[in-house]
Amino acid sequence: MEVIVTRDYDEMSKTAARVVAQVLNLKPNAVLGLATGSTPLGLYRELIRMHREEGLDFSQVTTFNLDEYVGLPRTHPQSYYYFMQENLFKHINVPKQNIYVPSGTTSNYAAFCQWYEQRIRECGGIDLQVLGIGTDGHIAFNEPSSSLGSRTRIKTLARQTIEDNARFFGSPDEVPVYAITMGVGTILEARKIMLLASGRQKAPAVAAAIEGPVTSMITASALQLHRDAMCIIDREAASQLKMLDYYEWVQAKMPNAP
Ligand code: GLP
Repeated sequence: MEVIVTRDYDEMSKTAARVVAQVLNLKPNAVLGLATGSTPLGLYRELIRMHREEGLDFSQVTTFNLDEYVGLPRTHPQSYYYFMQENLFKHINVPKQNIYVPSGTTSNYAAFCQWYEQRIRECGGIDLQVLGIGTDGHIAFNEPSSSLGSRTRIKTLARQTIEDNARFFGSPDEVPVYAITMGVGTILEARKIMLLASGRQKAPAVAAAIEGPVTSMITASALQLHRDAMCIIDREAASQLKMLDYYEWVQAKMPNAP
């Protein structure tokens, strides 16, 4: 796995935005897989800036979000649909009809999950999947013990995730217990994957995901099986990596390194 260690959150976000821009440059009608959470906020800010100042164009782009809380309507300020609208979509020119976020209020989840997977396939598959990582090593809402072959489905959130995400709600009791999430298998089908992580609290999960064994106990470790996965992480998130020196050496020796 390619590991890029950046000075700080800002540099992580800008590096990630450059990767998105490269993908769009090669394929203006790319399909992007998008994530929520505080980690990708800087990336989305940078993409908005590039759209406004440099003409980065999303008019042919299609997006699929990873997950959504079950029970929250699109209008709920903590729904992931609302988050994406506020923090990215309303500031760029991606067509409304090209935006897909799993529904948290459908009456038939089994059918919806199948349809979501089918839409991804019909749109040609995901070209670049953006991921964050939970403190328990999850990607999307694939909690520890999730099958590494899993597809889009309902998951029960782990207590740790509910506590982590309580900061966005009034209290842990208000955090939904269920989520609809792409599976690990769904994510692994993306052509390129970019995982972002920032801050010391992510360091154990990042180390386990990059250097630990491939295990359903750390679903991010499944990225080790992907042929084009990269981790863009800041120094704090990288602080428990055993091979840190090596990753920095590789970066310094890149042909186009500054
Ligand atoms: C949630 C999301 C994940 C995200 C994780 C980390 O659990 N479902 O996709 O990666 O939070 O969030 P943050 O970036 O806020 O630390």
